[in-house]
Amino acid sequence: MRSAVIGVGVIGSLHTHILSERKTLCAVCDIDGEKLKKYADIPTFTDYKVMLDEVRPDVVHICTPHYLHAEMVVYALDKGINVLCEKPLCISIEQMKRILDAEEKSSARLGVCLQNRYNKESVFVKEYLSDKKVVSAVAHMAWHRTKEYYASGDWRGKKATEGGGVLINQALHTLDLLQYFAGSPSHIVSNVCNLTLKDDIEVEDTAVIQGTKGAGITLFATNGAAYDMPVVMSVKTKTDIIHILPGHVYVNGTEQPLEETYARVLGKECYGSGHELLIDDYYKCLQENRPFEINGREGSKVVSIILAAYKSGGEETEVVYG
Ligand SMILES: NC(=O)c1ccc[n+]([C@@H]2O[C@H](COP(=O)([O-])OP(=O)(O)OC[C@H]3O[C@@H](n4cnc5c(N)ncnc54)[C@H](O)[C@@H]3O)[C@@H](O)[C@H]2O)c1
Repeated sequence: MRSAVIGVGVIGSLHTHILSERKTLCAVCDIDGEKLKKYADIPTFTDYKVMLDEVRPDVVHICTPHYLHAEMVVYALDKGINVLCEKPLCISIEQMKRILDAEEKSSARLGVCLQNRYNKESVFVKEYLSDKKVVSAVAHMAWHRTKEYYASGDWRGKKATEGGGVLINQALHTLDLLQYFAGSPSHIVSNVCNLTLKDDIEVEDTAVIQGTKGAGITLFATNGAAYDMPVVMSVKTKTDIIHILPGHVYVNGTEQPLEETYARVLGKECYGSGHELLIDDYYKCLQENRPFEINGREGSKVVSIILAAYKSGGEETEVVYG
C-alpha cells in the first residue's frame, strides 16, 4: 500500500507519523511550504491534484480544513483512489450529496475518521447494546477553547470554512457515539449560542440537541468551560443504566471489565487513542476487500444531525440523511 496525506498541520502530522511507522507514506501535500520541510525524504506537493495525478497513491488521507473535504474526497474517488477523510465529512447537505454520489460511482473506498468508536468503552457498550433497545442516551462535553486556539488557524471559528463551532468540530465525536449507540433521530430540536467567545468567533461555542423522534439522544456541549473536562455519557435501556467515563463503563452501578486494545495516545489527549486502530482497520479492510464500517454514508449521519441542529433555532426539525 502507498499512502499520501493532504494537509500536514496538527492532525495530518499524526497521520503521517502512523503511516511512516508502517512504511506506507509515499507523498504529502500542503499549501504551506514550511510544513513540507520535514518530509525531505519523500516527494512533496503544494497542489493536491498534481500529487494525486502524479503519485497515484492507493490511499489518500484528507486532513485539511472542513470546507475543503468535499472537493478533495470527490476528486480522489473520481480517480479511483481510496480516501480516508478526517471528520467532519463535509459541512453542507449539498456537499454530502456530491460525496455520497461519488462514493457510489467509485471503485474506491471512502472511510471517515470517527476514531472514538474504537475506544475500548465504545467497543464494550456497542456490543452490550447489540440485543437491547436504547430508551435515552445523554452526553455532556465541557471543554475549554480560547481565542488563541481559534487564532491558530484562519479557517477556525468561521462559518464558511469551519462550518460551525463546537458542534461540528469538538462535540462531533460525542454526538456520533450517541447516535451510534441509540440510533439516528428522524427529528431533533436544538439551540446554539456563543457564551464566551462573542468577540472572537462567528460560530457557536455552546449547543444543546434533543432527539424528538426516532431516537432519544440528548447532547450538552460547550467550548466555554473553565477547563477541559472528561466527556460523560449515560445510556438507558428498559432494564439497564450504563454510565460511560473515559476508561470506565458501569452497568447498573457495577464497573465492567474492558478489553485492553493496544493503542498509544499519539497527539493531544482529546483525540483519544483511536486513530491508530481506525487507520489499521481501514487498511485491513482494503487489503482483505471487506467493507469498512465507517464509510461515507455512515460518517455522514452525524453531519446530518449537526446540520439539522444549525437549522433548528429551537423548533423541531427533520434530520435529512444522505
Ligand atoms: N479526528 C480527530 O479527533 C481530529 C482531531 C483534530 C483535527 N481533526 C480534523 O482534521 C482536520 C485538520 O485539522 P487540524 O487541526 O490539523 O488543522 P490545521 O490547520 O492544523 O491543519 C490543516 C492543514 O491543511 C493545510 N491546507 C489548507 N488548505 C490546503 C489545500 N488547499 N491543500 C493542501 N493543504 C491545505 C494547511 O496549510 C494546514 O497545514 C479538520 O477537519 C479537523 O476537524 C480531527
